[in-house]
Amino acid sequence: MKPLLVFAVSLCLFGNADPVLADKDMLIKNNCFACHGIDKRKYGPKFVDVARKYANEEDAVPMLARKIRAGGSGVWGEDIMPPQAQVSEDDAVALAKYILSLQ
Ligand code: HEC
Repeated sequence: MKPLLVFAVSLCLFGNADPVLADKDMLIKNNCFACHGIDKRKYGPKFVDVARKYANEEDAVPMLARKIRAGGSGVWGEDIMPPQAQVSEDDAVALAKYILSLQ
C-alpha cells in the first residue's frame, strides 16, 4: 500500500506541472503585470488581445520581442510602453512566444 501512496502523492505534486508556467513567472519577474493583465486591461493592453491581434502575423515573435525591449506607443492608444531593457533578447523572444500563445 505504501509505495502506491508515495506514487499518488508524487503525481499530485508533479503530475500537472505546466511547462508554460516558467514564462508566466518571467512576466512576474520582469514586472510586466504592473501594466498588463493576461485577460484584464490595465495601463497596457491585456495579453489575450495582443495574442489575438497578431495570431496570423508571421513575424509576430521577433516584432513583439523587439517592442518589449524597445517599448513604443500608438498601437493600442496613446499610452507609452517604456523600454524594458532589463529583458535579455532571449527572454524577450520567450515572452513574445508565451504572450502569443495566450489567446
Ligand atoms: C509602464 C507600463 C508597462 C510595462 C511595465 C510593460 N508594458 Fe507592455 N505595454 C504598455 C503599453 C502602454 C502598451 C501599448 C503600447 C502601444 O500602444 O503601442 C504595451 C504594449 C505591449 C505589447 C504589444 C505591443 C504591440 O505592438 O502590439 C506587448 C507584447 C507588451 N506590451 C509586452 C510587455 C512585456 C512582456 C512586459 C514586461 C517585460 C511589458 N510589456 C511591460 C505598458 C507597459
